[in-house]
Amino acid sequence: MFAQIPKRVTVYEVGPRDGLQNESRMIPTAEKIAMIDLLSQTGLQQIEITSFVHPRWIPQLADGAQVAAGIKRAPGVGYSCLVPNRKGLDNALAVGMREVAVFLSASETHNKKNVNKTIAETLNAFEEVIGPAKEAGVRVRAYVSTVYGCPYEGAVKVEAVVDLVRELHRRGVYQISLGDTIGVATPIQVESVLSHVLAIVPREEIALHFHDTRGTALANVLVGLSLGISTIDSAVGGLGGCPYAPGASGNLATEDLVYMLNGMGIETGIDLDSVVACSERLQSWVGRELPSKYLKAALGAQARGPRRLSKVGG
Ligand code: HMG
Ligand code: MG
Repeated sequence: MFAQIPKRVTVYEVGPRDGLQNESRMIPTAEKIAMIDLLSQTGLQQIEITSFVHPRWIPQLADGAQVAAGIKRAPGVGYSCLVPNRKGLDNALAVGMREVAVFLSASETHNKKNVNKTIAETLNAFEEVIGPAKEAGVRVRAYVSTVYGCPYEGAVKVEAVVDLVRELHRRGVYQISLGDTIGVATPIQVESVLSHVLAIVPREEIALHFHDTRGTALANVLVGLSLGISTIDSAVGGLGGCPYAPGASGNLATEDLVYMLNGMGIETGIDLDSVVACSERLQSWVGRELPSKYLKAALGAQARGPRRLSKVGG
C-alpha cells in the first residue's frame, strides 16, 4: 500500500482563508496579519491568506487588501488567495499577489449558492482570470468543491468531478485541489475518485482538501499519499468551513497532518511546536477552543507539566 508514498509533502495552509471565512466573530485585521506572520515562521511553504470575493458574500474577509499589504512575506513561502472572477483578480494583482485560486463545485446547487452562477458560467468566468493571471506571471490553482458529496444534492457523480478536472487542466491551472467541502468522504471513495482523476492528470498536479467533519480526513489523506499525492491542504488548529455549505466544519488540522507525516518519516520542513504556538494564540483571537487533536494533546501535556508526565510514564 505504501510503495508510492512521497518522501516530501507540501502542506498547503488554508487557515487564514478557509478558516477565518467561517468564524462568527470578526477577527481584526491586525490579528489576521499576526497569524499569517506566525505561520510564515513555521516552515510552511504555501499559505492562502484571504479571498478577493464580494464582501457581502464573505464579510469576514472584506479586509483582504489590507491583509495582503500588511503581512511580512518570508523568503521561500508562497502566498495565495481565492478569486472568483476578473474583479477579484484585479484586486489581488493590485496588492502584489503572485498566486491566485479559482473555485467551483462539482454540484450545480452548491455552485449556484456559492458563486451565483451555473457551473458552465463559472468556467466561462475563469477565462477572464486564468489567461490574464498567467500573462502577469501569476500562478493559478483551482479548487473543485463537493467532490465527495453536496449539502444540497447528496451524492455527486465521479464523472462530474472528472469532467471539471479535465476542463481545468485544459485551461492551464498548475494544480487542482479536490475539496471534500462537508467532510463526508471515506477512504474507498477517495481511492475511486483518484483512480479516475489520475488517469487524466499527473499526480503532481492534484492536491487534496478535506474538511474533518466526521473524523475521516487523515484516513483519506493516507489513501492519497499511497497513490503518490504530495500536496495536502490543511488549516492551523482545524479552523474552517464554507458559509454556503450547511454542516461544513473545520478543515483537517495542520498539526494533526504534520504529526502523522513526521511520524511516517515524510519530510514537510514544518516545525510542529511553532504551529502549536500559533494555534494557541489563535484560540484567544477566535474566542474558542480549536478542534485539532494534536493541539489538545500538546496543550494538555504542557499543562500537566514534566512531573505529572514522568509519573504517567513511571
Ligand atoms: P454576484 O452578485 O453574482 O456578482 O456575485 P456580479 O458579478 O453580479 O456583481 C455584483 C456586484 O458585485 C458588482 O458590484 C460587482 O462589481 C461586485 P456593483 O456593480 O453592484 O457595485 N463584485 C465584486 N466585488 C468584490 N470582489 C469581487 C466581485 N465580483 C463582483 N470579486 C460573486 C458573484 C462570485 C462575486 C459572489 O457570489 C461571491 O463573492 N462569492 C464568494 C463565495 C465564497 O467566497 N465562498 C467561500 C469560498 S469557496 C470554499 O470555501 C470551498 C473551498 O474551501 C474548497 C472546499 O472546501 O471544497 C475552496
Ligand atoms: Mg474548504
